[in-house]
Amino acid sequence: MEERLQKYLANQGIASRRKCEEYILQGKVKVNGNVQKTLGVKINPEVDNIEFEGKQVMANTQKVYILLNKPIGYVTTVKEQFHRDKVTDLINLPIKLVPVGRLDMYTSGALILTNDGDFVYYITHPKHEVEKTYTVTLKGIVTAEEKEKLEKGIKIEDYTTKPAQVKILKIDEEKQISRLAITIHEGKNRQVRKMCEAIHKKVLALHRAKIQNISVKNLKIGTWRYLTQKEIQSLGYTPLQDKK
Ligand code: URA
Repeated sequence: MEERLQKYLANQGIASRRKCEEYILQGKVKVNGNVQKTLGVKINPEVDNIEFEGKQVMANTQKVYILLNKPIGYVTTVKEQFHRDKVTDLINLPIKLVPVGRLDMYTSGALILTNDGDFVYYITHPKHEVEKTYTVTLKGIVTAEEKEKLEKGIKIEDYTTKPAQVKILKIDEEKQISRLAITIHEGKNRQVRKMCEAIHKKVLALHRAKIQNISVKNLKIGTWRYLTQKEIQSLGYTPLQDKK
């Protein structure tokens, strides 16, 4: 069956669909030996030979969804130029997986990885508004006013964040530390850190506790498990192979 080249590449776990479009435009993709730089071209994986960066893209139909409890010190980029440790190094499977969204190097916690490009596209699309809950430890005592600012939306750089849920988990007057649970629907770059900077608080630790109701509470840091079908569906997503 014919399908668009970028969709096929994303479905084989090369990267998100948007990133695959960039790769096509950069001339990294060959169809039957010829560089294919046009977006929207249709291919038939049963007859066409597709190469990405000189390597044949193998047909891969089994979709895999993994929940990793990311340790700090690991990057979520798939192509790492600076020899830093990658999250994909923590998953000993012979499958090319991509992280669904980002977690910055010094943030730990829930990270989903998959070889299903449709899933990445679905979850990272702003209209699906997947809830993410972060536990953040801050230097200093957060006031009721500051909490309200975070909740209502706060200006960071050139945009104002959407309303967030903020719960104070702990205030330690003696150590001058506050711990909050912040739930956001957006996924702007380093958003939680920037929100905290906007109330002039230094972030001491940041951990993503949950993606919607999918929690890493019972997963040791640095380890992973498969998501259940129920969990995948709880994110509002139906895997393509089940739709057929
Ligand atoms: N917000 C941040 O500041 N960092 C992350 O990794 C995720 C959300």
